[in-house]
Amino acid sequence: MTLYVRQELQELGYPIMYESMAGVFTEGTLHDTMILNLRMRTASRILLLLKECECDSPADLYYHTSKIAWEDIIPDKNGYVSVISAVDTPSIDNTQFANVKCKDAIVDRIRQKTGKRPDSGSDNDYTVIFLYWKDTECCIYLDTSGTPLSRRGYRMMPHSAPMRETLAAATVLATRWDKQSSFINPMCGSGTLAIEAALIATQRAPGLLRPNFGFMHVQDYNHQEWIALRENAESAIIPFESRIIASDRDTKAVQATRENAKKAGVAHLIKVSRCDFSETEIPHDNGIIMLNPEYGKRLGDDEKLLAEYQRIGNFFKQQCSGYMGYIFTGNLELAKHVGLKAKRRIEFFNADIDCRLLEFELYEGKKHINS
Ligand SMILES: C[S@@+](CC[C@H](N)C(=O)[O-])C[C@H]1O[C@@H](n2cnc3c(N)ncnc32)[C@H](O)[C@@H]1O
Repeated sequence: MTLYVRQELQELGYPIMYESMAGVFTEGTLHDTMILNLRMRTASRILLLLKECECDSPADLYYHTSKIAWEDIIPDKNGYVSVISAVDTPSIDNTQFANVKCKDAIVDRIRQKTGKRPDSGSDNDYTVIFLYWKDTECCIYLDTSGTPLSRRGYRMMPHSAPMRETLAAATVLATRWDKQSSFINPMCGSGTLAIEAALIATQRAPGLLRPNFGFMHVQDYNHQEWIALRENAESAIIPFESRIIASDRDTKAVQATRENAKKAGVAHLIKVSRCDFSETEIPHDNGIIMLNPEYGKRLGDDEKLLAEYQRIGNFFKQQCSGYMGYIFTGNLELAKHVGLKAKRRIEFFNADIDCRLLEFELYEGKKHINS
C-alpha cells in the first residue's frame, strides 16, 4: 500500500522524506494534515509527529510524554483524549499499560497546568494520540484522522467480506484505468470497488464524505480553513461520461451497493443489477473488469470455489475480450484455476492475508496459456 500512498503524496506536491513498512513520511503542518485527510484515498491515518524519544521503561514513557505541552493541544472545553498504539518492545509486557501510562502523563500534565482534567477513554472521535514504540525508539503522534480513513462513512450496509475502502481505492489505482472507458465490477458485494472507482473518476475527495476527523479536536483547529478546503475540493469534482457497472447474484448485496453508492453521492454513476457474474453487461469499449471472489477460509470451501474460478476464466476469455481483467484474491491456489496467465501480480495485504491483484490482458484472439 505504501507505493500508492507515496504516489498520492507526490501528486499532491508533498516531498517524500522516507518510507518504511509502517508508512510514508513527509513534512507539513496541521493545515497540511487537513488537506491530506481530505484528499488521500489509500492512507489509513495521517499522523503528526509531536515527539521522538528513547524509552527503556514505562517510567521513561511517562517522563517524555509529560514534557509535551498538552495544555496547548487538547481543547480546554470538553477535552477528551484517547490513546492508541503500535507497541513492540521488551520494555513493557502489556500494550494497554503503555497506552495507560501515556494517557496518565497527558492528563496529569494538563491538571497540573490548568487545574482541570480532560476526560479520557477509548472513543476515537475526539483528540487521538498514536504511540509508536519499537524496542527503545518511541514516537508520539497526534492522530489527525481519529477514526481510520478507511471508514469513509458511506458503507452503511456492509455485505459479506467487504474490502477496506482504502484498499479498494489502491486496487482501482493499480489498474491505471483511463476513466474514459467502462469499469465493470461483478461480484460487487457492498459495492466498495465500484464506489471507489466512481470517486476516483470524478476526482471527488474521499474526506468530503466524513463529518469528523481527529484534527478538529485540537486547539489550533480553524474551522474556516476547513470549510475553504472543502469548497475547493467540491469545485474540483469533474463529470464522468463513461460507465460503471456493478452486479451481484445476492439481492442484499445489490441493495447494499445501491444504498452505499447513494450515501457516497455517486449512485447516479453506477448501474447496479442482480445477476450471476457471467450475465453482467459488458460494453464494447475495452475497459476494466475487476472481481473480488470469495476465497474460502473453511475446509471444503476450496472445492466449491475452484469451479467458480474456472468459470471466471471462461467468462474472461469468452465475453470480455478487449478488456483488462483483474481478480483480487487471497487464495493463490484457487487463482491458478482461472486458466489464464497473469501479466502482473500485485501484492496487497488485506487484514494480514497475503493477497494479489492479478492482471489479465484479454486481447481479442489472444492465445491463453495456463499459469
Ligand atoms: C468477497 S465478496 C465481494 C466483496 C466486495 N469486494 C466488497 O468490498 O464489498 C464476493 C461477492 O461475490 C458474490 N458472488 C459469489 N458468487 C457469485 C456469482 N456466481 N455471481 C455473482 N455474484 C457472486 C457474493 O454474493 C459476494 O457478495
